[in-house]
Amino acid sequence: MSTEQPKSGFVTIERASYRYDAAGPTVVDAIDWTIPRGEIHCLLGRSGCGKTTLLKLAAGLLMPSEGAIRIGDEALAGPSPRAGFVFQAPTLLDWLSALDNVLLPVSLKRRPTIADKDAALDLLERVGLADFAMRRPAELSGGQQSRVAVARALIGNPDLLLLDEPFAALDALTREELQDDLLRLCALNGTTALFVTHDIGEAVYLADTVAVMAAGRVTHVRRIELARPRHRDMRYAPGFIAACRALRDAMDGAATASRRPAA
Ligand SMILES: Nc1ncnc2c1ncn2[C@@H]1O[C@H](COP(=O)(O)OP(=O)(O)O)[C@@H](O)[C@H]1O
Ligand SMILES: [Mg+2]
Repeated sequence: MSTEQPKSGFVTIERASYRYDAAGPTVVDAIDWTIPRGEIHCLLGRSGCGKTTLLKLAAGLLMPSEGAIRIGDEALAGPSPRAGFVFQAPTLLDWLSALDNVLLPVSLKRRPTIADKDAALDLLERVGLADFAMRRPAELSGGQQSRVAVARALIGNPDLLLLDEPFAALDALTREELQDDLLRLCALNGTTALFVTHDIGEAVYLADTVAVMAAGRVTHVRRIELARPRHRDMRYAPGFIAACRALRDAMDGAATASRRPAA
């Protein structure tokens, strides 16, 4: 029986490390991180620093080589049924309609019911796709495909949403619209989210806390003290710009540190 005190965080990452093979480099290196229930945390870092690997650990898709991940009171021992995942590419199935793509996590387990179908249609409506339910992915724009992927991640009403650069391929204006949609959906359901991005403005706009990652480690953590709900005008507020600048400096500092030759 555990004698540990209950943790205040909803997602607790405890000194988690990961190596893809035993002799290989440590891709995630002793990361400690706590996400309180209902908060949105962004993980910001350059390509190759280990963001996707850390997100897969939080999803239970990979098991840490050392350390542990806890969601609520449970230590993760496999893919978490409490988490929804949005991958970098929308990864929709070409031959299924938007509706059937949203229903996919259900239909992989059992035959969807009328209630499941209603829930999927409701989600499509919430992401602005009420009239597109019967379209196939090839008949949707990139932004619409991303909306379907977000709706699909929300179909099981997850407590935790894990997003891996979900809007990176979209144009700037569509990306901003999807950021607003995501904030609205998370606020509506009290969803906790971990959002990976390399876009500093995106991280500041979405997050309660931004963590900068470099070479497998969290090198800087910053609370974002902007009011909620967030609004697009905030992107031009002095506090927003100051946070972006501080994070940029932290990323540049981390990059210099990780390039510095070992003594
Ligand atoms: N399946 C894998 N096998 C071996 N190495 C991997 C694998 N996936 C990623 N890596 C390596 O792990 C490091 C971190 O990758 P990743 O977590 O995808 O970074 P990011 O998402 O920040 O771009 C990179 O050096 C990458 O080459
Ligand atoms: Mg990645």
